[in-house]
Amino acid sequence: MQPVTLAADRLVKGHGGASRIGVDIGDFDLTEGLRRVAESITITDNRTGQSLEIPLENGGVSAADFSKLLPGTWFYDPGLTATAACESAITYLDGDAGILRYRGYPIEQLAEDSTFLEVAYLLLNGELPTTDEFAVWEREITLHTFIHENVRKRFLEGFHYDAHPMGMLVSAVAALSTFYSDAKDIFDPDSRDKQIIRLIAKMPTLAAAAHRFSVGMPFVYPDNSLPFTSNFLSMMWKIAEPRFAADPVLARALDVLFILHADHEQNCSTTAMRVVGSSHADPYSATAAAAAALYGPRHGGANEAVIRMLTDIGSIENVEPFIASVKSGSGGRLQGFGHRVYKSYDPRAKIIKKTADEVFAVTGKSPLLDIALKLEEIALSDEYFISRKLYPNVDFYSGLIYQAMGFPLEMFPVLFAIPRTAGWLAHWQEMLNQDSKIARPRQLYIGSEERNYRPIGER
Ligand code: ACO
Repeated sequence: MQPVTLAADRLVKGHGGASRIGVDIGDFDLTEGLRRVAESITITDNRTGQSLEIPLENGGVSAADFSKLLPGTWFYDPGLTATAACESAITYLDGDAGILRYRGYPIEQLAEDSTFLEVAYLLLNGELPTTDEFAVWEREITLHTFIHENVRKRFLEGFHYDAHPMGMLVSAVAALSTFYSDAKDIFDPDSRDKQIIRLIAKMPTLAAAAHRFSVGMPFVYPDNSLPFTSNFLSMMWKIAEPRFAADPVLARALDVLFILHADHEQNCSTTAMRVVGSSHADPYSATAAAAAALYGPRHGGANEAVIRMLTDIGSIENVEPFIASVKSGSGGRLQGFGHRVYKSYDPRAKIIKKTADEVFAVTGKSPLLDIALKLEEIALSDEYFISRKLYPNVDFYSGLIYQAMGFPLEMFPVLFAIPRTAGWLAHWQEMLNQDSKIARPRQLYIGSEERNYRPIGER
């Protein structure tokens, strides 16, 4: 056994710049590997010589234990890149190995064999439903797809004529909390289940309503005889026909995309959901906060950026010069490449590529696809991208699929929010069941020392 010491002085700032702590990983057998025997670490405050042993549990060490030795010294972690803010049993993600599992089930199997509604049940309940459980679940979702007429007539139709559908969705979800006062009973399991069902069921209705309004088309009521994604496509595209029959290949492709986007553990929007939920706000308000986080281009907007990039490149001949400009730094980033967590091929991107082929067989090939394929081919064999572990992410192809299916670019984040609602609610429910604390991080203060107020005429 050989102790390994990590100087953690870059982790802890403040309290006199010269402060320093040492971290020893105890009981660590280098020959047997980290996974089996790393059971504790010992930290030493080099100012006092005091040490504390802290167990390693589930790959983490308790910050509360650190605080016993170092009260008033905080972990400095902007973007929470090295902080586990919760324990979760919902989604497992190994970015280096390219693994994504919901409740233990590989994403590849779920995308191949499951449906979005079944996956939503799995995320929320921890197990796949039996036939009877699924029948009840599907029926409940189907029976809650309608929205209150005032949400549509008074609220959605009050937006400016060119309102962005994602802005409308965020606001409409928040407004729902005023329609369901029972949503405040977050510790009543029946009420909680009801709000979860309402939210998952009404999200496509609100999304389609936002789109119809933004293009000046009349609202289409849900057709509860249709499955989840076919119903959504009907609300999106129906014109004068008595019944809209979505192409089954497109309805299934959308269902697969919904499965792939249903959860991704502690990303920005899910963290927003947990943070707002930790104040015991109702689930509509928390979901609106999560959707607002998703609205940002760094999170839900990357597939739109891919389409804009491919359109700007314009033709295959321009791909090589574009890659050169990315490498030199003058052309910006290769959109749809790279990921904060995945340092190998995003497993969702592999599945999406296959889905894209199926969709293009129905819709005709997107003229941008050849550019995308060429970009991928060059980037995957280029030292710049290889050495930085930059691979296509889920957004590289999802935008092409959505575009081929007729969705305008503004709807891309909305299409992300519909399935992610299931993931957000699974995390919200898990957090409430864990009796978690209100989210309240610390800061390292870098502002002025105390100073005296001077009247405006003296400044
Ligand atoms: N194109 C070119 N170079 C890139 C790219 C890219 N897409 N992504 C990262 N790099 C380079 C950086 O310039 C940097 O190079 P350097 O070491 O020479 O300075 C290196 O790779 C590391 O980059 P970071 O920014 O540190 O990587 P990080 O993990 O923080 O970024 C991110 C991840 C934001 C996703 C980034 O890869 C990116 O901007 N990608 C394009 C946007 C995109 O596709 N976002 C969607 C993410 S998936 C999702 O949110 C659902």
